[in-house]
Amino acid sequence: MVHYIIVITLLALGLSPHCLSSKTVGGGYLYPQFYDHSCPKAQEIVRNVVAKAVAKEPRMAASLLRLHFHDCFVKGCDASILLDSSGSIISEKRSNPNRNSARGFEVIDEIKAVMEKECPHTVSCADIMALAARDSTVLTGGPSWEVPLGRRDARGASLSGSNNNIPAPNNTFQTILTKFKLQGLGIVDLVALSGSHTIGNARCTSFRQRLYNQSGNGQPDNTLDQSYASQLRRNCPRSGGDQNLFFLDFVSPIKFDNSYFKNLLANKGLLNSDQVLFTKNGESRELVKTYAYNQELFFLQFAKSMIKMGNISPLTGYRGEIRQNCRKINA
Ligand code: HEM
Ligand SMILES: *[C@@H]1O[C@H](CO)[C@@H](O)[C@H](O)[C@H]1NC(C)=O
Ligand SMILES: *[C@@H]1O[C@H](CO)[C@@H](O)[C@H](O)[C@H]1NC(C)=O
Repeated sequence: MVHYIIVITLLALGLSPHCLSSKTVGGGYLYPQFYDHSCPKAQEIVRNVVAKAVAKEPRMAASLLRLHFHDCFVKGCDASILLDSSGSIISEKRSNPNRNSARGFEVIDEIKAVMEKECPHTVSCADIMALAARDSTVLTGGPSWEVPLGRRDARGASLSGSNNNIPAPNNTFQTILTKFKLQGLGIVDLVALSGSHTIGNARCTSFRQRLYNQSGNGQPDNTLDQSYASQLRRNCPRSGGDQNLFFLDFVSPIKFDNSYFKNLLANKGLLNSDQVLFTKNGESRELVKTYAYNQELFFLQFAKSMIKMGNISPLTGYRGEIRQNCRKINA
């Protein structure tokens, strides 16, 4: 009864009742039809530009997927990661997780430029990133989902948030799980979302420690397959070559599938943060096995967890703004 009255009131105000259901089930006030009237071409524009960028460079799918994650873990999914330094803003692009690593900003700029022509001041940079992450997943062979929309863009960035909230590849399992829990995500989300590492690259510096001196005793990580390790050492020397690139999933590096989890079963996860999902916790080990044996379950959970991650503290209503240029706040 109360629900009906609220829905009718919303309809009378010209608002969609979907925001009610999204709020009550998902937490957050986002809903997929947000731009249906204000910018019906919004989703198509994102899809087209992302498809073009990924056709040109397959790795871009991975880079765009990661951008959304690094945005959401810092003050919520508010496009704070896209801001360049200027005035009182210190860009998150300088943080340890992002420096020499986060990429795809030019693609977001291109989407935004087309979007501003089609529907000026309407579609947020934060929503563009959420859509680009979904489209990148689909384009590389992964699952699809309806992206709840209606995020607005932050008027500030947080360098310390970026350094502290985003897990590092040498964090312990417990630290990583804690960082997920602080965002309202759980162990199931952690394992499913780590499945993103089925596409994309990592630099030598992100896993070198495992190859030479994992625990300070001069020995490689004993949870890393030895022949895989010696292969990695060829292009990731003890010193130098920090920026040399390696596939996160050497089996099918540009295909979104469940081979990432199969690799973990074979002690062939690239990052320490990948392998610990299989070696340091019973519950997460079982989840890794489940997804390694059943790609469909992985895909279903991945979509659910992406929606959950995309719901982290969005700015809605009159909070935040719709940036005209994703790199700077409006004048
Ligand atoms: C669980 C904790 C996580 C850690 C410790 C972690 C760490 C990393 C590191 C170190 C890299 C390589 C960066 C470089 O060397 O340049 C990377 C790449 C990547 N990460 Fe994660 N990540 C985590 C979770 C996630 C999540 C939740 C997502 C997405 C939902 C994600 C998506 C990606 C993608 C797609 C890449 C490849 C990017 C590219 O090729 O440009 N990661 N991650
Ligand atoms: C993790 O890596 C960072 C950056 O290379 C380093 O400063 C830190 O000491 C490492 N932490 C551990 C526990 O090895
Ligand atoms: C390994 O790391 C420890 C502690 O960081 C250091 O004391 C030791 O010299 C290193 N060993 C080698 C062989 O690099």
